[in-house]
Amino acid sequence: GVRKKEVNVMVLGLDNSGKTTVINHFKPPETKNHDIVPTVGFNVEKFKSKSLAFTAFDMSGQGRYRNLWEQYYKECDGIIFVIDSSDKLRMVVAKDELDLLLQHSELKNRRIPVLFFANKMDVRDAVTSVKCSHLMGLENLSDKPWHICASNALTGEGLHEGVDWLTDQLK
Ligand code: GTP
Ligand code: MG
Repeated sequence: GVRKKEVNVMVLGLDNSGKTTVINHFKPPETKNHDIVPTVGFNVEKFKSKSLAFTAFDMSGQGRYRNLWEQYYKECDGIIFVIDSSDKLRMVVAKDELDLLLQHSELKNRRIPVLFFANKMDVRDAVTSVKCSHLMGLENLSDKPWHICASNALTGEGLHEGVDWLTDQLK
């Protein structure tokens, strides 16, 4: 068959938001992780969608590793930003990190697509994706294409809708 177009995406968001679990869902069965632990530094993962071959930089969201994010902005074609929609206390921290990355010199003037997952929608206290986008200030994000999906990375619910959108943006 025809070789799929290769794209680099960064998977960002606070620690414990579910980034590694999201990416694990898309990996082929033989390479899936059975027990997911907090990411140290970052991992590079590969998966495919209908028309693209993704290389995903699954970054650690822990404070002490967040300074690594910017080192890969230059090469990235798209961003997957995972939000724990049940962690209302830290939503403001997630918003601060998002604002920092959007203002970064390597990203500021590029129309790269940003896919948000309002993850952990299964948790009883989770806020809706609409509330999540409001708390994250997404109504002010007008210079980049963006999309938000409610997701449950444990079951996969919502994940394909998100990656289909990203694929459309990058193909
Ligand atoms: P760091 O690597 O530390 O930045 O964290 P991460 O964002 O990669 O989170 P990870 O995928 O390791 O998931 C953290 C915890 O949340 C794990 O216990 C997951 O099983 C759990 N988790 C991930 N997604 C969901 C979800 O949609 N719902 C629920 N209930 N738990 C989830
Ligand atoms: Mg991780």
